[in-house]
Amino acid sequence: MKTLKNIDSLKQTLIDIRKNNQSIGFVPTMGALHQGHLSLINKSKKENDITICSIYVNPTQFNNKQDLIKYPRNIENDIAMLHEIHCDILFVPSNEEMYARNEQLGDYNISEVMNLLEGEKRPGHFTGVITIVHKLFHLIKPHRSYFGEKDYQQIWLIKLFVKKIKSSTKIITCPTIRDDDGLALSSRNARLNLTQRKAATILFQTIDSFKDQILKIKKRHHNNRIDISILKYEQIKMIHQYSFIKLDYFEVIDVENFSFATEIVFNKNYRILIAAFIGEIRLIDNILID
Ligand code: PAJ
Repeated sequence: MKTLKNIDSLKQTLIDIRKNNQSIGFVPTMGALHQGHLSLINKSKKENDITICSIYVNPTQFNNKQDLIKYPRNIENDIAMLHEIHCDILFVPSNEEMYARNEQLGDYNISEVMNLLEGEKRPGHFTGVITIVHKLFHLIKPHRSYFGEKDYQQIWLIKLFVKKIKSSTKIITCPTIRDDDGLALSSRNARLNLTQRKAATILFQTIDSFKDQILKIKKRHHNNRIDISILKYEQIKMIHQYSFIKLDYFEVIDVENFSFATEIVFNKNYRILIAAFIGEIRLIDNILID
């Protein structure tokens, strides 16, 4: 695996790749890699000649300074993991490399959805995400780029963004990888203590049981609409049993336009999204109602 730290060396390597007409798959990450990240890289390896992974803890997408400072970093371990799965290129730029020229490549105010849920709770987050993804796409011009469903609102907005700028990069959605108890893998899980780690599974349990109940009602009902307000209240109560967990949001959205749903209509697709603080660590998860 080639490890590149600056834009010039990456550009040089890309010239050679393009000369050989090789397809490029790109997996942007913030490091502290786990099996979720590796699943994206493995998929890219299957579908492209060359796979590039970037590791960059992007400061502009953090609205909370402590979260940025405490974000897990473990570059030696990351390099070893990438080596083992034969990733071709690792790009690890510094802040100076990524933000030296303070150029704004575009207008990132692409949708009202940027200000909902994660965007509302973390002001400026999605502008930061889209800024860095655009910078990296502009540089690498990948044929395909791989994102996890774990960050559902992020991939929803990135898909919209590439459509808006008519980018030739295809966005590939990858399923959420979970631990045995259902907890979605996340770099931030490394910050949980044992008690918090055990309790954290409640996020998945809440959305999964909410989904099950809707599917059960769907089977029984003749009516093709289900009001979800009471069901939602019942699920939220499950979280309140833990004094150290604070729910940030629990919403059901219509996947087509990302609008909040108060009822389920049978022939449409919905997703349940949840965010909660376990102590001071904020985790998110989501699940499709299929
Ligand atoms: P990061 O949180 O490191 O995640 C990198 C990619 O891995 C994202 O596409 C994310 O959705 C995916 N991922 C994380 N956990 C996953 C899991 N359990 N299963 C499957 N995929 C998972 O998301 C970011 O970084 C940043 O916002 C970034 C896009 C790199 C821009 O800075």
